[in-house]
Amino acid sequence: MAHYLFLSLLFLICTSFISTAGLPELLRFGGVEGSLSLDPTDLNSVSVDFGGTARTEPAAVLRPASADDVSSLVLASYRSLNAFAVSARGHGHSINGQAGARDGVVVAMSHHHRHGAQSPSHAKSKPAYSLERNGYYVDAWGGELWVDVLNWTLANGGLAPRSWTDYLYLSVGGTLSNAGISGQAFHHGPQISNVYELDVVTGKGELVTCSDEKNPELFHGVLGGLGQFGIITRARIALEPAPKRVRWIRVLYSNFTAFTKDQEHLISLGNSSPSLPRFDYVEGFVIVDEGLINNWRSSFFSPSNPVKISSISTDGGVLYCLEVTKNYDDTTKDSLDQEVDALLEELDFIPASVFTTDMPYVDFLDRVHRAETKLRAKGLWEVPHPWLNLFVPASRVVDFDRGVFKGILGNKTSGPILIYPMNKHKWDERSSVVTPDEEVFYLVAFLRTAVPGSTEPTQSLEYLTRQNERILDYCRDTGIEIKQYLPNHATRSDWERHFGDGWGRFLRRKAEFDPKHILGTGQGIFQPLSSPSFAL
Ligand SMILES: Cc1cc2nc3c(=O)[nH]c(=O)nc-3n(C[C@H](O)[C@H](O)[C@H](O)COP(=O)(O)OP(=O)(O)OC[C@H]3O[C@@H](n4cnc5c(N)ncnc54)[C@H](O)[C@@H]3O)c2cc1C
Ligand SMILES: *[C@@H]1O[C@H](CO)[C@@H](O)[C@H](O)[C@H]1NC(C)=O
Ligand SMILES: *[C@@H]1O[C@H](CO)[C@@H](O)[C@H](O)[C@H]1NC(C)=O
Ligand SMILES: *[C@@H]1O[C@H](CO)[C@@H](O)[C@H](O)[C@H]1NC(C)=O
Repeated sequence: MAHYLFLSLLFLICTSFISTAGLPELLRFGGVEGSLSLDPTDLNSVSVDFGGTARTEPAAVLRPASADDVSSLVLASYRSLNAFAVSARGHGHSINGQAGARDGVVVAMSHHHRHGAQSPSHAKSKPAYSLERNGYYVDAWGGELWVDVLNWTLANGGLAPRSWTDYLYLSVGGTLSNAGISGQAFHHGPQISNVYELDVVTGKGELVTCSDEKNPELFHGVLGGLGQFGIITRARIALEPAPKRVRWIRVLYSNFTAFTKDQEHLISLGNSSPSLPRFDYVEGFVIVDEGLINNWRSSFFSPSNPVKISSISTDGGVLYCLEVTKNYDDTTKDSLDQEVDALLEELDFIPASVFTTDMPYVDFLDRVHRAETKLRAKGLWEVPHPWLNLFVPASRVVDFDRGVFKGILGNKTSGPILIYPMNKHKWDERSSVVTPDEEVFYLVAFLRTAVPGSTEPTQSLEYLTRQNERILDYCRDTGIEIKQYLPNHATRSDWERHFGDGWGRFLRRKAEFDPKHILGTGQGIFQPLSSPSFAL
């Protein structure tokens, strides 16, 4: 009965998109309350994202009770004379309105337990062992936040996903629509390389199970697919026994070439023989001026340390920090120091610039959340974030350093700048994500915060946005073939250039899985097609 009412409501809504009056009345029908909302507060809460600048108003918000709800909604649009936009929204941590659906319906996939809402996530299965894969996996709802996946798998067998993002309050569907990267990606590949199977609602409203063997074109298309081919309602995620603790180490460089040489050395370990000693996580960041002290990612250094750091002389005024971890538990504890020392010995950092800490694995994974709590307390979390994430080919990273870190940035950065390399062979060429055409490429992430009303001009949104443009211009003018991660492009030809050789495949997948361009309009790649009969 409820389902019937839900469908008839959808039907009425579809009709109302043509004559918009009367939408609120429809909500008085029973059976769907709390599922489909036209409440201005709900609409408002999904109209903005972490970027804090883009605004995209939908006509309604669906809080699905199941994958079937998602399917009914998309089907209603697909069958409608005037197809309306439908976008999944995970935790809304995009920067440029990517999860928006102008005048359409936003499917609010994530209800974190903090908000007390019941969600389909409660249907989560216990982790299981796959003989075929020789490893464990868990099935998670697409809107599940990674922090909740971790909580669940730890509680059910002491397991954990292998490949991460730095921040865990992101949804499974949201990161899998991009790639999902952190310091483990060099070894395990991005999160999209650690998924066995998906349930996906396509743009035709069909709920399809897909994997490498079953409907592989949809499976690979959706991974890194920017929400263009389907809404992920379930993901089968690879797990490993969760490490107990991590040794977390930072070392400093003033010589960029030495820094990247060491990073590339570290990510090559294990390529030839998986059992060779290596770190479990390799990242790094750039320190320009007070960049380190303002680093919100952790309170790693004791208060006296920044003084020490500022006394290190640098050439271009820029320092580089290599960040690595080694996981361990009771059985590997004894050999830990020796292994870490042996790995560090091969590196060429500034002597005596070794900063070490030690903590439970889970605390390490959740490190950014601690910083979030502090920033929230200061009113510095819900502010504009003009972030820019780039993949830079290793062959040009020195030019990038010269022109950007030692050039365009000047002395102020207004937020952390991450830099770490990855191995392309850990990425599946069949997925939709776009990376540079070289075996080793770097993520360079400018994670800056604009401070509204600041008297410091370098903290204004305009200044930082202009700087992002200058960085992109510099790469174009000097022929550095960067690719944007979490891409944001203004025109069709920019998107075409972004996808390069993959553009034809992307268009074919769109025509097959979302022929009416219903899904993911917030990405700005496609807009809904009105059917010819409606145009008449
Ligand atoms: C503080 C912070 C730290 C971050 N750290 C990292 C990091 O370390 N590594 C990294 O890789 N990224 C990182 N990101 C970026 C993040 O992975 C992406 O912005 C991701 O899209 C956010 O997930 P979300 O659930 O908020 O997605 P949303 O912003 O809600 O959605 C993003 C896109 O995915 C689509 N989408 C959402 N759910 C689904 C679904 N179920 N099925 C299909 N499409 C869907 C949306 O329509 C939209 O196009 C970070 C972002 C923030 C704000
Ligand atoms: C999981 O979350 C619950 C509720 O927030 C918490 O009490 C519990 O300690 C968490 N479990 C783990 C293993 O982190
Ligand atoms: C920087 O490091 C590189 C690689 O180790 C080395 O060849 C170069 O001489 C170093 N430059 C300086 C100024 O020390
Ligand atoms: C950075 O600061 C130093 C000293 O404070 C100054 O000499 C230099 O010109 C500044 N560089 C840039 C690029 O602004």
